[in-house]
Amino acid sequence: MKARVFSGVQPSGDLHIGNYLGALKNWVRIQYDYESIFCIVDLHAITIYQEPAALRAKIEEIAAIFLAAGIDPKHSAIMVQSSVPAHAELAWMLTCVTPVGWLERMTQYKMKAESQETVGDGLLQYPVLMAADILLYQAAIVPVGEDQRQHLELTRDLAQRFNSLYGDTFVMPETHLPTVGARVMGLDDPEKKMSKSASGSGHAVALLDPPVQARKKIMRATTDSLPAVDFDNLGAGVANLLGIFQALSEWPENRMKKHFAGMRYGELKKQVAEMVISHLEPFQKRYHEITSEAGYVASILREGAERVAPIADATVELVKKRMGLYTLS
Ligand code: TRP
Repeated sequence: MKARVFSGVQPSGDLHIGNYLGALKNWVRIQYDYESIFCIVDLHAITIYQEPAALRAKIEEIAAIFLAAGIDPKHSAIMVQSSVPAHAELAWMLTCVTPVGWLERMTQYKMKAESQETVGDGLLQYPVLMAADILLYQAAIVPVGEDQRQHLELTRDLAQRFNSLYGDTFVMPETHLPTVGARVMGLDDPEKKMSKSASGSGHAVALLDPPVQARKKIMRATTDSLPAVDFDNLGAGVANLLGIFQALSEWPENRMKKHFAGMRYGELKKQVAEMVISHLEPFQKRYHEITSEAGYVASILREGAERVAPIADATVELVKKRMGLYTLS
Protein backbone atom coordinates (compact mmCIF):
# COMPACT_ATOMS: atom_id res chain seq x y z
CA MET A 1 0.00 0.00 0.00
CA LYS A 2 1.22 3.48 -0.84
CA ALA A 3 1.85 5.96 1.97
CA ARG A 4 -0.67 8.74 2.23
CA VAL A 5 0.15 12.39 1.56
CA PHE A 6 -2.01 15.21 2.82
CA SER A 7 -1.63 18.92 2.31
CA GLY A 8 -3.85 21.95 2.55
CA VAL A 9 -4.20 25.44 1.15
CA GLN A 10 -6.30 28.23 2.57
CA PRO A 11 -8.84 29.73 0.18
CA SER A 12 -7.81 33.31 0.82
CA GLY A 13 -5.64 35.65 -1.21
CA ASP A 14 -4.41 34.91 -4.72
CA LEU A 15 -2.26 31.87 -5.43
CA HIS A 16 1.00 33.07 -6.97
CA ILE A 17 4.16 31.77 -8.62
CA GLY A 18 5.70 31.25 -5.19
CA ASN A 19 2.87 28.87 -4.26
CA TYR A 20 3.32 27.12 -7.59
CA LEU A 21 7.08 26.69 -7.32
CA GLY A 22 7.11 26.05 -3.58
CA ALA A 23 4.15 23.70 -3.28
CA LEU A 24 1.95 22.88 -6.25
CA LYS A 25 4.70 21.89 -8.65
CA ASN A 26 6.07 19.56 -5.99
CA TRP A 27 2.64 18.02 -5.35
CA VAL A 28 2.11 17.37 -9.03
CA ARG A 29 5.47 15.65 -9.23
CA ILE A 30 5.01 13.39 -6.20
CA GLN A 31 1.28 12.66 -6.47
CA TYR A 32 1.59 9.24 -8.09
CA ASP A 33 4.14 8.02 -5.56
CA TYR A 34 1.52 8.27 -2.83
CA GLU A 35 -2.15 8.15 -2.12
CA SER A 36 -2.65 11.90 -2.28
CA ILE A 37 -5.22 14.18 -0.69
CA PHE A 38 -5.16 17.92 -1.41
CA CYS A 39 -7.51 19.89 0.76
CA ILE A 40 -8.90 23.41 0.46
CA VAL A 41 -9.12 24.40 4.10
CA ASP A 42 -12.10 26.72 4.27
CA LEU A 43 -12.59 26.14 8.03
CA HIS A 44 -9.10 27.50 8.54
CA ALA A 45 -9.82 30.51 6.32
CA ILE A 46 -12.73 31.64 8.52
CA THR A 47 -10.44 32.00 11.54
CA ILE A 48 -10.16 35.49 10.06
CA TYR A 49 -13.32 37.13 8.68
CA GLN A 50 -13.95 36.31 5.01
CA GLU A 51 -16.56 37.91 2.83
CA PRO A 52 -18.93 34.94 2.23
CA ALA A 53 -19.46 35.27 -1.54
CA ALA A 54 -15.75 35.83 -2.12
CA LEU A 55 -14.83 32.82 0.02
CA ARG A 56 -17.17 30.57 -1.90
CA ALA A 57 -15.80 31.71 -5.25
CA LYS A 58 -12.21 31.38 -4.03
CA ILE A 59 -12.72 27.73 -3.11
CA GLU A 60 -13.67 26.76 -6.66
CA GLU A 61 -10.92 28.99 -8.05
CA ILE A 62 -8.31 27.11 -6.05
CA ALA A 63 -9.68 23.74 -7.06
CA ALA A 64 -9.49 24.82 -10.72
CA ILE A 65 -5.91 26.04 -10.18
CA PHE A 66 -4.97 22.64 -8.72
CA LEU A 67 -6.42 20.96 -11.80
CA ALA A 68 -4.79 23.39 -14.24
CA ALA A 69 -1.44 22.88 -12.51
CA GLY A 70 -1.64 19.14 -13.11
CA ILE A 71 -3.17 17.54 -10.05
CA ASP A 72 -4.86 14.51 -11.54
CA PRO A 73 -8.32 14.03 -10.02
CA LYS A 74 -8.46 10.40 -11.20
CA HIS A 75 -5.59 9.66 -8.89
CA SER A 76 -5.53 12.39 -6.22
CA ALA A 77 -8.46 13.57 -4.13
CA ILE A 78 -9.13 17.31 -4.31
CA MET A 79 -11.56 18.18 -1.53
CA VAL A 80 -12.96 20.96 0.62
CA GLN A 81 -12.41 20.63 4.35
CA SER A 82 -15.93 21.63 5.44
CA SER A 83 -17.46 19.06 3.07
CA VAL A 84 -16.19 16.31 5.36
CA PRO A 85 -17.64 17.00 8.84
CA ALA A 86 -15.15 14.64 10.47
CA HIS A 87 -12.51 17.42 10.32
CA ALA A 88 -14.47 19.56 12.76
CA GLU A 89 -15.44 16.57 14.91
CA LEU A 90 -11.90 15.34 15.37
CA ALA A 91 -10.71 18.89 15.98
CA TRP A 92 -12.99 19.11 19.01
CA MET A 93 -11.80 15.80 20.41
CA LEU A 94 -8.18 16.89 19.99
CA THR A 95 -8.95 20.29 21.50
CA CYS A 96 -9.81 18.48 24.70
CA VAL A 97 -6.35 16.94 24.95
CA THR A 98 -4.48 20.14 23.97
CA PRO A 99 -2.86 22.26 26.69
CA VAL A 100 -3.73 25.91 26.01
CA GLY A 101 -0.09 26.81 26.64
CA TRP A 102 0.97 24.86 23.54
CA LEU A 103 -1.32 27.01 21.43
CA GLU A 104 -0.45 30.33 22.99
CA ARG A 105 3.20 29.71 22.12
CA MET A 106 2.60 29.28 18.39
CA THR A 107 4.42 32.02 16.48
CA GLN A 108 1.79 32.24 13.71
CA TYR A 109 -0.92 32.67 16.31
CA LYS A 110 0.99 35.46 17.99
CA MET A 111 1.61 37.19 14.67
CA LYS A 112 -1.97 36.91 13.47
CA ALA A 113 -3.45 37.84 16.83
CA GLU A 114 -1.40 41.00 16.86
CA SER A 115 -3.10 42.35 13.75
CA GLN A 116 -6.67 41.61 14.93
CA GLU A 117 -8.86 43.92 16.95
CA THR A 118 -10.61 41.01 18.60
CA VAL A 119 -8.95 37.63 18.48
CA GLY A 120 -11.37 34.85 17.62
CA ASP A 121 -10.99 31.59 19.50
CA GLY A 122 -10.62 29.88 16.12
CA LEU A 123 -7.28 31.60 15.64
CA LEU A 124 -6.00 29.91 18.78
CA GLN A 125 -7.49 26.55 17.76
CA TYR A 126 -6.12 26.79 14.22
CA PRO A 127 -3.23 24.33 14.80
CA VAL A 128 -5.56 21.79 16.43
CA LEU A 129 -7.78 21.83 13.35
CA MET A 130 -4.69 21.38 11.22
CA ALA A 131 -3.62 18.42 13.35
CA ALA A 132 -7.09 16.96 12.85
CA ASP A 133 -6.77 17.33 9.05
CA ILE A 134 -3.58 15.34 9.07
CA LEU A 135 -4.38 12.72 11.71
CA LEU A 136 -7.84 11.99 10.28
CA TYR A 137 -6.22 10.40 7.26
CA GLN A 138 -3.27 8.92 9.14
CA ALA A 139 -1.14 10.83 6.65
CA ALA A 140 2.52 9.83 6.76
CA ILE A 141 3.78 12.75 4.71
CA VAL A 142 2.75 16.38 4.84
CA PRO A 143 4.48 18.57 2.25
CA VAL A 144 4.43 22.10 3.62
CA GLY A 145 6.71 25.13 3.70
CA GLU A 146 9.11 26.06 6.42
CA ASP A 147 6.52 28.40 7.97
CA GLN A 148 4.36 25.38 8.88
CA ARG A 149 7.07 23.47 10.69
CA GLN A 150 5.89 24.50 14.15
CA HIS A 151 2.32 23.43 13.35
CA LEU A 152 3.60 20.07 12.20
CA GLU A 153 5.54 19.62 15.40
CA LEU A 154 2.41 20.39 17.39
CA THR A 155 0.56 17.76 15.34
CA ARG A 156 3.17 15.19 16.31
CA ASP A 157 3.06 16.24 19.96
CA LEU A 158 -0.72 15.95 19.97
CA ALA A 159 -0.66 12.53 18.32
CA GLN A 160 1.82 11.37 20.91
CA ARG A 161 -0.19 12.78 23.80
CA PHE A 162 -3.37 11.20 22.52
CA ASN A 163 -1.66 7.85 21.96
CA SER A 164 -0.24 7.83 25.46
CA LEU A 165 -3.56 8.80 27.08
CA TYR A 166 -5.82 6.51 25.08
CA GLY A 167 -3.61 3.91 23.43
CA ASP A 168 -2.00 3.75 20.00
CA THR A 169 -4.36 5.49 17.62
CA PHE A 170 -2.52 7.90 15.35
CA VAL A 171 0.26 7.50 12.83
CA MET A 172 3.11 9.94 13.43
CA PRO A 173 3.34 12.26 10.42
CA GLU A 174 6.66 13.40 8.97
CA THR A 175 7.32 16.89 7.78
CA HIS A 176 8.29 16.84 4.19
CA LEU A 177 9.84 20.09 3.10
CA PRO A 178 10.14 20.64 -0.62
CA THR A 179 13.65 20.62 -1.98
CA VAL A 180 13.76 22.58 -5.23
CA GLY A 181 12.87 26.17 -6.06
CA ALA A 182 11.05 26.26 -2.79
CA ARG A 183 11.42 29.76 -1.59
CA VAL A 184 10.27 32.60 -3.81
CA MET A 185 10.58 36.01 -2.22
CA GLY A 186 8.44 39.12 -2.67
CA LEU A 187 9.27 41.11 -5.82
CA ASP A 188 8.95 44.40 -3.95
CA ASP A 189 10.74 43.13 -0.85
CA PRO A 190 13.14 40.23 -1.48
CA GLU A 191 13.77 39.80 2.23
CA LYS A 192 10.22 38.49 2.75
CA LYS A 193 8.72 35.28 1.43
CA MET A 194 6.18 35.91 -1.36
CA SER A 195 2.84 36.02 0.39
CA LYS A 196 -0.74 35.45 -0.71
CA SER A 197 -2.21 38.16 1.43
CA ALA A 198 0.07 40.89 0.09
CA SER A 199 -0.51 40.48 -3.67
CA GLY A 200 -2.29 43.00 -5.86
CA SER A 201 0.55 45.48 -5.63
CA GLY A 202 3.97 44.73 -7.04
CA HIS A 203 4.58 42.03 -4.46
CA ALA A 204 3.63 38.78 -6.19
CA VAL A 205 2.77 37.48 -9.63
CA ALA A 206 -0.57 35.75 -9.19
CA LEU A 207 -1.15 32.63 -11.27
CA LEU A 208 -4.19 34.30 -12.78
CA ASP A 209 -2.55 37.68 -13.47
CA PRO A 210 -2.90 38.76 -17.11
CA PRO A 211 0.56 38.43 -18.76
CA VAL A 212 0.82 42.21 -19.26
CA GLN A 213 0.42 42.73 -15.54
CA ALA A 214 2.84 39.93 -14.70
CA ARG A 215 5.46 41.55 -16.91
CA LYS A 216 4.91 44.95 -15.28
CA LYS A 217 5.39 43.53 -11.80
CA ILE A 218 8.62 41.77 -12.77
CA MET A 219 10.00 44.82 -14.56
CA ARG A 220 9.43 46.82 -11.37
CA ALA A 221 11.01 44.24 -9.05
CA THR A 222 13.45 45.54 -6.47
CA THR A 223 17.09 44.84 -7.33
CA ASP A 224 20.12 46.67 -5.93
CA SER A 225 22.55 49.43 -6.82
CA LEU A 226 24.72 47.34 -9.14
CA PRO A 227 24.07 47.62 -12.89
CA ALA A 228 24.41 43.97 -13.91
CA VAL A 229 24.41 40.38 -12.66
CA ASP A 230 27.52 39.52 -10.67
CA PHE A 231 27.39 35.97 -9.32
CA ASP A 232 30.04 36.78 -6.71
CA ASN A 233 27.94 39.59 -5.36
CA LEU A 234 24.27 38.69 -5.73
CA GLY A 235 21.75 40.93 -3.98
CA ALA A 236 18.58 39.29 -2.62
CA GLY A 237 16.36 40.77 -5.36
CA VAL A 238 18.55 39.60 -8.23
CA ALA A 239 19.01 36.18 -6.63
CA ASN A 240 15.24 35.90 -6.36
CA LEU A 241 14.69 36.74 -10.05
CA LEU A 242 17.35 34.22 -11.06
CA GLY A 243 15.78 31.66 -8.72
CA ILE A 244 12.37 32.10 -10.33
CA PHE A 245 13.89 31.73 -13.80
CA GLN A 246 15.83 28.64 -12.80
CA ALA A 247 12.92 26.94 -11.05
CA LEU A 248 10.71 27.41 -14.13
CA SER A 249 13.34 26.61 -16.78
CA GLU A 250 15.02 23.87 -14.75
CA TRP A 251 18.36 24.99 -16.17
CA PRO A 252 21.42 23.67 -14.36
CA GLU A 253 23.62 26.05 -12.38
CA ASN A 254 26.41 26.29 -14.98
CA ARG A 255 23.99 27.18 -17.76
CA MET A 256 22.43 29.88 -15.56
CA LYS A 257 25.85 31.35 -14.85
CA LYS A 258 27.00 31.32 -18.45
CA HIS A 259 23.78 32.89 -19.66
CA PHE A 260 23.21 35.57 -17.01
CA ALA A 261 26.72 36.61 -15.88
CA GLY A 262 27.19 40.33 -16.64
CA MET A 263 23.65 40.78 -17.95
CA ARG A 264 22.14 44.18 -17.19
CA TYR A 265 19.17 44.13 -14.82
CA GLY A 266 16.74 45.50 -17.41
CA GLU A 267 17.51 42.60 -19.75
CA LEU A 268 17.46 40.08 -16.88
CA LYS A 269 13.96 41.21 -15.90
CA LYS A 270 12.77 40.99 -19.48
CA GLN A 271 13.98 37.41 -19.73
CA VAL A 272 12.49 36.45 -16.36
CA ALA A 273 9.18 37.99 -17.43
CA GLU A 274 9.19 36.01 -20.70
CA MET A 275 9.95 32.79 -18.84
CA VAL A 276 7.14 33.42 -16.35
CA ILE A 277 4.66 34.32 -19.09
CA SER A 278 5.58 31.25 -21.13
CA HIS A 279 4.40 29.19 -18.14
CA LEU A 280 1.43 31.37 -17.21
CA GLU A 281 -0.13 31.34 -20.67
CA PRO A 282 -0.67 27.59 -21.11
CA PHE A 283 -1.61 27.34 -17.43
CA GLN A 284 -4.28 30.03 -17.76
CA LYS A 285 -5.57 28.45 -20.96
CA ARG A 286 -6.15 25.20 -19.06
CA TYR A 287 -7.70 27.12 -16.19
CA HIS A 288 -10.20 28.76 -18.52
CA GLU A 289 -11.07 25.47 -20.16
CA ILE A 290 -11.64 23.89 -16.76
CA THR A 291 -13.81 26.71 -15.46
CA SER A 292 -15.83 27.13 -18.64
CA GLU A 293 -17.42 23.73 -18.23
CA ALA A 294 -20.34 24.43 -15.89
CA GLY A 295 -20.42 22.17 -12.85
CA TYR A 296 -17.12 20.44 -13.61
CA VAL A 297 -15.12 21.79 -10.67
CA ALA A 298 -18.05 21.20 -8.30
CA SER A 299 -18.22 17.58 -9.46
CA ILE A 300 -14.50 17.08 -8.78
CA LEU A 301 -14.94 18.47 -5.25
CA ARG A 302 -17.93 16.23 -4.63
CA GLU A 303 -16.01 13.17 -5.82
CA GLY A 304 -13.03 14.13 -3.69
CA ALA A 305 -15.13 14.46 -0.54
CA GLU A 306 -16.95 11.19 -1.25
CA ARG A 307 -13.68 9.40 -1.79
CA VAL A 308 -12.05 10.49 1.49
CA ALA A 309 -15.06 10.62 3.83
CA PRO A 310 -15.00 6.88 4.68
CA ILE A 311 -11.35 7.14 5.77
CA ALA A 312 -12.12 10.19 7.92
CA ASP A 313 -15.26 8.66 9.40
CA ALA A 314 -13.41 5.50 10.37
CA THR A 315 -10.84 7.56 12.28
CA VAL A 316 -13.51 9.52 14.12
CA GLU A 317 -15.24 6.26 15.02
CA LEU A 318 -11.99 4.83 16.36
CA VAL A 319 -11.22 7.98 18.35
CA LYS A 320 -14.72 7.96 19.83
CA LYS A 321 -14.24 4.37 20.94
CA ARG A 322 -10.82 5.10 22.40
CA MET A 323 -12.16 8.07 24.36
CA GLY A 324 -15.29 6.31 25.54
CA LEU A 325 -17.64 8.51 23.57
CA TYR A 326 -20.90 6.81 22.69
CA THR A 327 -21.07 5.10 19.32
CA LEU A 328 -24.18 3.70 17.73
CA SER A 329 -22.47 0.93 15.85
N1 TRP B 1 -1.85 25.95 7.77
C1 TRP B 1 -1.58 25.64 6.39
C2 TRP B 1 -1.11 26.91 5.69
O1 TRP B 1 -1.48 27.98 6.03
C3 TRP B 1 -2.78 25.09 5.68
C4 TRP B 1 -3.20 23.77 6.22
C5 TRP B 1 -4.32 23.49 6.94
C6 TRP B 1 -2.51 22.54 6.08
N2 TRP B 1 -4.40 22.18 7.23
C7 TRP B 1 -3.30 21.57 6.74
C8 TRP B 1 -1.31 22.17 5.48
C9 TRP B 1 -2.90 20.21 6.81
C10 TRP B 1 -0.91 20.85 5.56
C11 TRP B 1 -1.70 19.89 6.22
O2 TRP B 1 -0.40 26.80 4.72
